[in-house]
Amino acid sequence: MSKLRIAVQKSGRLNEDSMRLLKDIGISIDNGKDQLKASAKGFPVEVFYLRNGDIPQYLKDGVVDAAIIGENVLIEKGEGIGVVEKLGFSSCRVCIAVPKAYNYNSIKDLEGKRIATSYPNTVKTYLDENGVNANLHIINGSVEIAPNIGLADAICDIVSSGSTLFKNNLKEVDTILKSEAVLAVSPKLNEERKAILEIIQFRIQSVLKGRQ
Ligand code: PRP
Ligand code: MG
Repeated sequence: MSKLRIAVQKSGRLNEDSMRLLKDIGISIDNGKDQLKASAKGFPVEVFYLRNGDIPQYLKDGVVDAAIIGENVLIEKGEGIGVVEKLGFSSCRVCIAVPKAYNYNSIKDLEGKRIATSYPNTVKTYLDENGVNANLHIINGSVEIAPNIGLADAICDIVSSGSTLFKNNLKEVDTILKSEAVLAVSPKLNEERKAILEIIQFRIQSVLKGRQ
């Protein structure tokens, strides 16, 4: 019998809540995090622990069937990947932020400026929609440091509590999108695995209802 292959974030903000949700729907995995793949007991599911940014490609290729992932990552690089459930945790927003002293009125103020980000496609779309040309500097983490070291005039990154912005003397000036964890599905999912996914979706819906 085939198993449904579900990707979860290996480490990071979604990991703990993702594992808790799996546990709550009766998928218990007893290995430690050092293993990259684990089978559930008594249910046809395999869990893959992957890097957040790699998950969209695995879904596109059909190497995994489903994933618990932030909507923001799918919007950035998950074209063609469907979302079947919103999961109600890991809420955040993708924002533009600038140094506190910066006199910002609108996105048009960033014309010709340098923006550091891990979300180049998302920012590019937003800038294009507003007819703004800016130079994007792609960095994979600690984006908030960029203005302080003279690398950029503004940043675009995810904001949750706002504490990272605050600590780096930045202020949030524009919200591009809002995001939460979702259950995403590979466009290559086959019928047999789809049946397993439907059971999982049903269980997730019950658990989320119970949490309200
Ligand atoms: C994420 C994100 C922001 C921060 C937002 O970074 O890139 O920097 O969390 O959360 P906050 O508003 O609650 O402070 P993370 O700590 O995951 O590290 P990274 O940027 O180095 O990947
Ligand atoms: Mg960060």
